[in-house]
Amino acid sequence: MTGQTRRAGKLAMAASVLVLAMPLSAQETRLPPQPAYTMAAETTGSPEERAATMLAQMSRAEKLTLLMGYFGESFPATGYQVIDGPRAGSAGFVPGIERMGIPPQWQTDAGIGVATQGGAAVKRPRTALPSGIATAATWDREIAFNGGAMIGREARADGFNVMLGGSVNLLREPRGGRTFEYAGEDPLLAGTMVGHQIAGVQSNNIISTSKHFAVNDQETARNSGNSVIEEGALRMSDLLAFQIAHEIGEPGSVMCAYNRVNGPHACEHPFLLTQVLRDEWGWPGYVLSDWGGVHSTAPSANAGLDQESGFGLQVDGWFAADKLEAALADGSISMERIDLMASRILRAMFAHGVIDNPVEPDQFIDFATNRAVSQRDAESAIVLLKNEGDILPLAANAENILIVGGHADAGVLSGGGSSQVYPDGENAVPGIEPTSWPGPVVYYPSSPMAELVGLRPQARIDYVSGDVPELAAALAAEADVVLVFGTQWSSESIDVEMKLDGEQDAVIAAVAAANPNTVVVLQTNGPVAMPWADDVPAILEAWYPGRMGGAAIANVLTGTVNPSGHLPATFPRSLEQLPHPGAPQPGDVNYTEGATVGYKWFDAQGLEPLFPFGHGLSYTEFDYGDLSVSRAGEGLVATFRVTNSGDVAGADAAQVYVSGAGWEAPRRLGGFAKVNLAPGETKLVSVAIDPRLLTIWDMENPGWSRAEGSYTVTVAESSRDLAGSVEITLPASHLSPQWRPQ
Ligand code: BGC
Repeated sequence: MTGQTRRAGKLAMAASVLVLAMPLSAQETRLPPQPAYTMAAETTGSPEERAATMLAQMSRAEKLTLLMGYFGESFPATGYQVIDGPRAGSAGFVPGIERMGIPPQWQTDAGIGVATQGGAAVKRPRTALPSGIATAATWDREIAFNGGAMIGREARADGFNVMLGGSVNLLREPRGGRTFEYAGEDPLLAGTMVGHQIAGVQSNNIISTSKHFAVNDQETARNSGNSVIEEGALRMSDLLAFQIAHEIGEPGSVMCAYNRVNGPHACEHPFLLTQVLRDEWGWPGYVLSDWGGVHSTAPSANAGLDQESGFGLQVDGWFAADKLEAALADGSISMERIDLMASRILRAMFAHGVIDNPVEPDQFIDFATNRAVSQRDAESAIVLLKNEGDILPLAANAENILIVGGHADAGVLSGGGSSQVYPDGENAVPGIEPTSWPGPVVYYPSSPMAELVGLRPQARIDYVSGDVPELAAALAAEADVVLVFGTQWSSESIDVEMKLDGEQDAVIAAVAAANPNTVVVLQTNGPVAMPWADDVPAILEAWYPGRMGGAAIANVLTGTVNPSGHLPATFPRSLEQLPHPGAPQPGDVNYTEGATVGYKWFDAQGLEPLFPFGHGLSYTEFDYGDLSVSRAGEGLVATFRVTNSGDVAGADAAQVYVSGAGWEAPRRLGGFAKVNLAPGETKLVSVAIDPRLLTIWDMENPGWSRAEGSYTVTVAESSRDLAGSVEITLPASHLSPQWRPQ
């Protein structure tokens, strides 16, 4: 592994136009020397007041220091040699100001735990949560918060005070390579889950970051692509997911995206970075760029970008002191703007405890506790997609179990790119291509097979790789039950096909033909086609299940844990059902479907998906009753009873959908609750419905407008499994762009 590997693809073009006489260093970018951090200067009052006090005492050079971040690793492709200061192998570093007691900003990726850059010689072993889409599949706010709190705790213990997640781009394209990092296709579910994760991270007195703002919904040509979408639709989809995440999590920072949005680059976008984020949402944090996502000095700063990130990956240094000084000199940036940028950063550092509770590296990490958090997340995230004839849980007396493929004898798959968390011990399956960026492909050493052997000590359990389908089928014919593991690896900077990798579909078909008791366990980036779905009685979607994934899968297969995950994204039957069946393209990406994303598209078009949004089976049954709906402020509250009518304990993801005339789709998710129920138990559940979900964005009279009329509220097990509805008549109303829940 060399430092060269990191983002070699992404930067190929940048590197080819660079002619560097000597390596770039701190000196050449005018970095002040970095003494140790000491005590903060005395400040009192609100974070705003404290930031203002600090700012008033700072020199111009000190202010500029806060606006420029450095990559945390050397990067041979650009000739960059890492400066003193970053934590080893980390995403980034912003120098501190010792005289003022302002600590450096030590930045780490992110969404599933403390990552290490792929190019780093030494990987930091840390606890990986399941992927972002997996956590979204729990539909459990507490699990999202606890996961965030756990990874934030590890970040803090490593001396990081800025964590570069949660990721809340909407799943518009199932082939998007970072689908695993995000939280699915619905703005309410994604925003709610990621908002709680952000709040969890920040409960450690560190800053968390929402990203990638905005409409970074595919990886193909992500640096130059232009996401084209009508403004009202944008407000009701991708932006709403961020807005909800911000209201819940209040992230200290936002990372603007690589791509362009309706023309301008996301990191020099006055509409996104000033009008929406600041003037409308009232968000007080600072915007940092994606790594190498800046393309100008004054236009970016004046549009609302506060901090350039990752100098070294890209060596233009748009916010380097000399460029900012030149912009000040020619008047293209005002000193007021510089003060605003620096004060937003300082304010966030005060507001989130970064200055009052300085981080220190090399603190104790309680891995046993943290693994339990990860395992609980995975166990709640696994979705039982199909279970005919109750083949699952595995019969206690199954004597002869064959496991096929997916390296299930060794470990569980994880997603690649900057969010890659490395496990303690070894990669369980080293050497799979690509072994460098966008790889390496990493399997966590949590073997589903070993865990199953522990839970079924009497059974004979064998493993065969599936490389030779005929052999797998011949062995399958002899087994009582076959567990086939299907995998799809994905990573940042690439898009993927909507299918399992390689020839695994053929292996599954061959095994299913040989043994009718075939259970398929999937570990995927997101939705995949399943041409064999009708030929197997049971399918589990385990996503990338994190550091304890093997245990979680074995527990669900055996019924030690009752599955309760529900899909945060529609699984299409085929590409033809998508708004854009053709593979992701560079250039203009025309999101003509607007806000009609995912299940909304399938419902509006009358398409039958393979598995609908919200779908997820259990080993028990849930019944709904007594649905009523009442007004609460500008919104609604739906109240209903949920009963566990089966004979094992379970958790239901009760979903409330809303319908109104003239909307982009027949139904929107209006609210949800994860409810734990003992056998026979009934609970009364109340679900609040955000008033914005009863409106459409009004371009004539900007804000959220609700027409007078009849609205339908439905309680459901999925977007296609509706249990009961009530109607309510509502008057017209209008909420300003500044409206937010109290
Ligand atoms: C990714 C970000 C990440 C950053 C730092 C970028 O390539 O898009 O999500 O936080 O690198 O590693």
